[in-house]
Amino acid sequence: MYKVPFVNYPEHYRRLEGELAEAITGTISRGDLIMREQLRQFESNIATYVGTKYAVGVNSGTDALRFSLLAAGIGPGDEVITVAHTFVATVAVIVQCGATPVLVDVGEDFNMDMEKLEQAITPKTRVVIPVDLNGRLCDMARLMDIAGKHGLTVIEDSAQALGAKFDGKPAGSFGITGCFSFYPAKTLGSFGDGGILVTNNREIAEKATALRDHGQVRATGDILFYGYNSRLDNVQAAILDVKLKYLPGWIDRRRELAALYEEGLGSLHQVKTPPPPDEGRYFDVFTNYVIRAEKRDALAAHLKESGVEVLISWPKPMHHHRALALGHFHLPETEKISNEVISLPLYPELSDEQVAYVIDSIHEFYRG
Ligand SMILES: Cc1ncc(COP(=O)(O)O)c(C=O)c1O
Repeated sequence: MYKVPFVNYPEHYRRLEGELAEAITGTISRGDLIMREQLRQFESNIATYVGTKYAVGVNSGTDALRFSLLAAGIGPGDEVITVAHTFVATVAVIVQCGATPVLVDVGEDFNMDMEKLEQAITPKTRVVIPVDLNGRLCDMARLMDIAGKHGLTVIEDSAQALGAKFDGKPAGSFGITGCFSFYPAKTLGSFGDGGILVTNNREIAEKATALRDHGQVRATGDILFYGYNSRLDNVQAAILDVKLKYLPGWIDRRRELAALYEEGLGSLHQVKTPPPPDEGRYFDVFTNYVIRAEKRDALAAHLKESGVEVLISWPKPMHHHRALALGHFHLPETEKISNEVISLPLYPELSDEQVAYVIDSIHEFYRG
């Protein structure tokens, strides 16, 4: 048992138990299991929250990305630019659609380097997928400008950034679609898997709605193409809809905790903290709190011994996994980051005292 676990799902549930139990049993006892009112309600609430016209609930963030690419007509012969410093799903869907992934390096804030994006564009480039890693958007002003200049479609991988903003505009509302994950550790997490695609484009919304449901149009019974079974379960939608009300408060708490970490670690020269919360261009939601640390592996071992559970995402850069056949990319910053990053516990249920304990443990390690 860790003194400071990396996540605390039991406590998360306990705090909302009454309300969640009501939503779950209410939904189940009425037999509302697949594509019922709770899903429509949740989709409508997410669309409002992000500021888009449509939202299509699917079984994962991965399929939100997949259906975005398919709905945009991406396939063999097309190049899609994204980063290697992301969860493998971002790249997997590109390959699975038959397109070619073109991976570019990231900058100091772990997000796509816009110079590198521009350099990677070829006549075959159709799409750019910016990844809002750790709950911080990319420089979307630059990115939208570059995409506009070169006629590229933007699909946002905002799996880690529901609630984050750039220049006051929410993650997921810039591109042709925005893709979110409800994996339990995200800012809004289900009790299982889930995801959603948001868009202002009616055709894309309709195509994604059919893609998630075997290519069917339920109203007419028409089957438009061979689709997938990738619906967001109605019970998960009911759960997520309850939780959505709490999201703004949870984000405030995440930002508060990030400020505590910054206060405690910002001056430590062996550690580089992420940009602190501010009200300027970037409104970050700290889905993960990731520092770069000297002697990273020894620090991780020390924290574990001290009862602090940490995560390393990712110890090996994606393009170094031979099975993925991405070894032709050279991404110096991505490679450097892999040896230095360490994610510290950060979630709304974490106490100030627990953060103080993590900070003390890190100081203790560097004092030797
Ligand atoms: C950046 C990023 N992209 C895509 C995904 C995929 O989402 P999911 O796990 O819901 O399929 C994740 C989530 O883990 C993610 O962090």
